[in-house]
Amino acid sequence: MRVIFGAALLFLLASCGNAPQQGGVSANRMNVPFVPDISINEVMVAQIDHASHFIWDAANPDNSAADIDWEEVEHHAIQLISSRSAISMGGTGVNDAMWIAQTSWREYVNMMNDGAVLALTSARGENMAGLSRAGDILVESCEGCHQQYKPSSPTEGFTHPH
Ligand code: HEC
Repeated sequence: MRVIFGAALLFLLASCGNAPQQGGVSANRMNVPFVPDISINEVMVAQIDHASHFIWDAANPDNSAADIDWEEVEHHAIQLISSRSAISMGGTGVNDAMWIAQTSWREYVNMMNDGAVLALTSARGENMAGLSRAGDILVESCEGCHQQYKPSSPTEGFTHPH
């Protein structure tokens, strides 16, 4: 009886040790059961580009803290933070599945997120220096990732019109 109990305990311990861990996310997170109906190209143009330009305009050193609509900065930072999932998951773009599997892709995504989170906390604290640093981190993430991954012309001909 004790032997059986011991074996069962060992088995339990072994299966706990093998629990799948992905990028530090705990095993009890649900797998996303769908592929988004839009591409990374579309998320870039329709969300990331808009949101980051608002933040860069606000971070212009000619602005004083009183000139800035901090609540709008906050909302645009939230848009960038939320787009992290979309560009980590990938959607309908022909290259999306290949891009998201690359380690350096995820590093650039995380860098963009760090900039966006700093923009958010800076907006909430009305902190100009923090906002400026956030803008720099964002630029570094766009440029770094584009240099490595962006095709010379957009895969879907989808570019920013303004
Ligand atoms: C993790 C990588 C990554 C990050 C970070 C990233 N991009 Fe992109 N971006 C891409 C890729 C790849 C494409 C090309 C998509 C395609 O053609 O399918 C793209 C395309 C674009 C496009 C559309 C193409 C064009 O030239 O008009 C815009 C606009 C854009 N990105 C803006 C930004 C901005 C602004 C940032 C930073 C705030 C940013 N991206 C951050 C990977 C990234």
